Order: sequence, then C-alpha cells, then structure tokens
Amino acid sequence: MKAVKVPKERGEEVRRLIEKLGLKDKRRRIRYEDGHVIIPVLDKFQNQIDGVEVFHDSSPVFVERKNFREILEGVAGFYPRFADIKLFGRVAIIKLPDSLLPYKDRIAMEIMRNYKVSAVWLDKGKLGMERKPRVELLAGRGSVVLHKENGCVFKFDVTKVMYSQGNQYEKIRIARLVEEGEIVLDMFAGIGYFTIPIAKHSKARRIISVEINPDSYEFLIENLKLNETRNVLPILGDSSKVSPSDFADRVLMGHLKAHHLIPKAIEAIRDEGWIHYHESVPVKILERPIKRLERTAESMGAKIIEIGMRKVKNYAPNVYHVVVDARIRKLSK
Ligand SMILES: C[S@@+](CC[C@H](N)C(=O)[O-])C[C@H]1O[C@@H](n2cnc3c(N)ncnc32)[C@H](O)[C@@H]1O
Repeated sequence: MKAVKVPKERGEEVRRLIEKLGLKDKRRRIRYEDGHVIIPVLDKFQNQIDGVEVFHDSSPVFVERKNFREILEGVAGFYPRFADIKLFGRVAIIKLPDSLLPYKDRIAMEIMRNYKVSAVWLDKGKLGMERKPRVELLAGRGSVVLHKENGCVFKFDVTKVMYSQGNQYEKIRIARLVEEGEIVLDMFAGIGYFTIPIAKHSKARRIISVEINPDSYEFLIENLKLNETRNVLPILGDSSKVSPSDFADRVLMGHLKAHHLIPKAIEAIRDEGWIHYHESVPVKILERPIKRLERTAESMGAKIIEIGMRKVKNYAPNVYHVVVDARIRKLSK
C-alpha cells in the first residue's frame, strides 16, 4: 500500500494537493512519525509532487467507523435503550445504563478510535436548580467545546454547564415566534440556549437574559460576543429577585422545575404577552403544567386567553418534557 512521507511543515500543503488530485486513500488514517507526516495514497499515485518520498506502507492504520450501537454491541454484546452519545465539537458525552458501567473504559477507548474526538466524558446526571453536570472523564482530555446549532455558536465547558440537544427545534421555534420590536425576558438563560437564537433570528427590540450560575454566565457573555449579538442585556442573578415588573412581551421559562416562579413570569408581562413554560411531567398527569399556569394567573387577577402545549422530548420512562405557550392578559390593567 502506497503512502507519501513529508516533513511536518509541508504536511498540510501536500495533503491538500493529494486530496485535490483525488489520490488520497480514505480508508487509511494520516499519521505522524519522527517529525514527518505519512499520508496514505492510492496505488495509482505516481510521484507527481516535488520533494515527497513515496514508499510501501507496511504498517497502515485503517479508519474504522463503527457507530455507537456497533461499539456497544462489540464491547458488551448488547445495546440498551437508554444508552446515548452526544458530540459537541471534539468532545463526546455518553450516557450508559448501570448494566454497561463495567464496560465504560473499553467503550470510551473504542469511541476514541472510531470518532473524531479528543475526549470522552460519562454523563452522570445533573445537580440542583442550576442543573450542574456531574461528569467523569473516561478517555482523552479537554472539556471546553464549540458547538454549532441553528446557525449559532455555543462555547461552554462540559464539566461546568449542561447543554440539552433535544431542545434544538424548540429553540428555533421560539425564535420564529418573536415579533419585531418585542421585549423578551429569558428567566433561565444558561449559556444562551434560547437567547442567542432569538437575538440572531428575530427582530426583538431587547432580550433580558438572567442567569444565576457564574460559570454559565461567563459563557453567556462569551457567546453573545461570538455571535455578535447587539440587543441582549445579560444579568447575573436570581430571576426570583432581579426581574422587574410590567415590561415584557414574552417570557421564557426554560427550566423544568421552576413552577414556583410562574408568578414572577406573570409579573414581568406588560399588559398582555406570552409565557413559554417548560416542565417535566409524568404522562399520567399531563394537564398539570396547564393547571398550574391557569391557577396562578387567576390568583393574580390575570387571564389566559390562549393556551397550547407541545411535547419537547421524552425526559424519562413515562415522563415528558413539555412546553406550554400561554397568552396572558392582565385584567387589572
Ligand atoms: C435547565 S438550564 C437551561 C436549559 C435550556 N433551557 C436548554 O434548553 O438547554 C437552566 C438554567 O437556569 C439557571 N437557573 C436556575 N435557577 C435560576 C434562577 N433562579 N435565576 C436565574 N437562573 C437560574 C441554571 O443555572 C441553568 O443555567
């Protein structure tokens, strides 16, 4: 099998040339040896490039692209329903049920070999109201990632802040609902999950984004810069204390366990406006979030004039993550 050997400094230039000529052998990996780059080429490669050495490669490394399911089946012999892999930039985060934990290190090594990642972390759940991740490094290194989604860039540290990929459609849906000139309050801004898509894809006048966790807030600020947003006012603080009253056209409650803050969201609405309220709810009592909103609105002399609920994703067996869109009118106004 043919390969070419070039000094490291010329590696990138020669790789590009070989790819342009369509002569790179994609079944094998590029590797590095003694200050040189070894680039696998097809047999029809005839030394068309000056200054490179063509040789017979007796120790090729093949690209094995096994998917997550194949890896688990290969290592443990089975693929359970709640195993999951998420890729953020060059970092993989995996969720394994207890039955797979004895195999976690071997699974991580296989992921390193088969995916383009520099680290594999085990997701062990989230802690408290701040949803701080509990993670364990299984292989490689690195935890700060750049993740692209819906035309936005999110930088964050997987050991410090959570990132939910299952809400991808919800984030863009909300951004599309925002009308020109609106003032939006994001009560649980995190690193900008909702704030940034709204800032980039709507004509909101202002987005006020409140986040309590200083680690998330730091990334929120960085992400606002990375995405070149101009109409966001970030606030480090507790939504139950810092949100003013009677100013917002739309309030986002993107936290699954924040029903105690529904009164704060209603207070923030100007005369009439939307609340997008998230909750994790057992399927048996699916009406609970709607009832909570209705009850609270009534007790505050407000009225819900339009309401709808949609499932965002499965949260746990028989538990849904839902979002309720409620249009509230303050009757006393
Ligand atoms: C569940 S995360 C947001 C998830 C996000 N909606 C998504 O779709 O991925 C909730 C965020 O709210 C923040 N938070 C929790 N309680 C808060 C409070 N009282 N005021 C402001 N932020 C809060 C947490 O620190 C966390 O960053």
